[in-house]
Amino acid sequence: MIDNTELLNQARKACDNAYAHYSKFYVGACALYDSGNYYLGANVENASYGLSLCAERNAMSSAVAAGEKGKLIKIAIFSKNRTNCMPCGACRQWMAEFAKDNQMQIILESEDEKCAIFTLEELLPYGFML
Ligand code: THU
Repeated sequence: MIDNTELLNQARKACDNAYAHYSKFYVGACALYDSGNYYLGANVENASYGLSLCAERNAMSSAVAAGEKGKLIKIAIFSKNRTNCMPCGACRQWMAEFAKDNQMQIILESEDEKCAIFTLEELLPYGFML
């Protein structure tokens, strides 16, 4: 199974493909499932700003499109900025949708900030579930 260092390397690679034409805030994500498969995503912006897609949701969408049936166990998020990119509320809710459990790990790193690891429980307490 891929380790955290390699997950972050993959997220960094995905970040190189970010389309952040407007914000210049470049993000890459690598989502790991319990199948051992992982999927990359980068943020994709649009002239109509509200249509922008986050890197994390892009990675999870790629998993669905590839037919992934496993559960999300980790997501690495790399931002080519000074500070780590805390996932937005929408992405946290998406993680909850595909996560194995609330101990799922969210691994962050940026150009200037060291690796930080959170659980979904820490970032989305009392999240909505059906
Ligand atoms: N962004 C992400 O890709 N992930 C997050 O968790 C937060 C924000 C992107 C969206 C937009 O392209 C840019 O960062 C600035 O908000």
